[in-house]
Amino acid sequence: MENNNNYLLEAVNLSKYFPVKNFFGKLVQEVKAVDRVTLSIKKGETFGLVGESGCGKSTLGRTLIRMYEPTDGVLKYDGHDITKLKGKELLSYHKRMQIIFQDPYSALDPHQNVREIMAEPITVFENLTSAQLDERIVDLLEKVGMKGDDLEKYAYEFSGGQRQRIGIARALSVKPEFLLCDEPISALDVSIQAQVVNVLEDLQQELGLTYLFVAHDLSMVRHISDRIGVMYLGKIVESGESDEVYDNPQHPYTQALLTSIPIADPKRALALENCGIEGDLPSPLHIPSGCRFHTRCPYATEQCKQQEPDLVERTPGHFVACWKE
Ligand SMILES: Nc1ncnc2c1ncn2[C@@H]1O[C@H](COP(=O)(O)OP(=O)(O)O)[C@@H](O)[C@H]1O
Ligand code: SF4
Ligand SMILES: [Mg+2]
Repeated sequence: MENNNNYLLEAVNLSKYFPVKNFFGKLVQEVKAVDRVTLSIKKGETFGLVGESGCGKSTLGRTLIRMYEPTDGVLKYDGHDITKLKGKELLSYHKRMQIIFQDPYSALDPHQNVREIMAEPITVFENLTSAQLDERIVDLLEKVGMKGDDLEKYAYEFSGGQRQRIGIARALSVKPEFLLCDEPISALDVSIQAQVVNVLEDLQQELGLTYLFVAHDLSMVRHISDRIGVMYLGKIVESGESDEVYDNPQHPYTQALLTSIPIADPKRALALENCGIEGDLPSPLHIPSGCRFHTRCPYATEQCKQQEPDLVERTPGHFVACWKE
């Protein structure tokens, strides 16, 4: 791990396994949702994380913000080891790292009005009078392009895009430095996706935020990310500067994902679920030996089946885990 103050989050060999128990509560297996991931996110950047559904993007994101306790590995936030933090100490980091969920419909309680939705996280950390609270909430709503008189309305009275704006304002209400944006536009109409992305970009500029942006829409990730990580079955298989990964993809999985992008027409941008790779994503309960992509890779050799390739820096800043040169 580089001891470098430019990094806000640093993970080394970070793993998150979920236990699978039988009827009697006995541990029978583990889902290796995140398996020894090494990753650094720089202050102020947007790191895009892409990969097929079920490859572990949400689990990695949630482990990085310590919503989940890592099974193994080391996690540092601004140089401080937060791998094992609990209680009040952990809460102070939860204030600094917030999440925007994929589905604004389920993320907000339909029985709460906007004031209640917004007040909830603020009151965990701050003791404000109701006038101060209202002032803060109106300010936040205006930041995301909503109006102050929306305060009394309920979540169901808003469109999907507006709910996602409320979700963003809520995440910002405790003045975080880092936002995990977990597919924040996937559930929205294509016509309003760009608006929400613009809100996120403006806020990043204004507040100096750092983002981990999870997506399966490759064209959108390229547009907003400084760097990108491509994830496959619990591992980062390629990472680098956004343009470098797109213009010069090295890993066969990344190459396959990129050939499925209809670049000329972003409205028709395909989800990774529809990419041209043959075969299903193997179960994380049965991760293939050697290179975990070998069961679907057109270039797989005997070595690939037996030995796992490390994530190696091929050119400055461009990392690839593949035996093929
Ligand atoms: N809380 C959980 N308990 C057990 N298994 C989980 C849990 N969350 C995710 N998983 C499993 O971990 C794997 C990765 O899931 P996830 O991180 O949600 O992937 P993605 O966000 O890329 O779709 C999947 O096989 C999923 O079923
Ligand atoms: S290591 Fe082998 S199987 Fe894995 S991606 Fe590279 S060529 Fe394909
Ligand atoms: Mg997910």
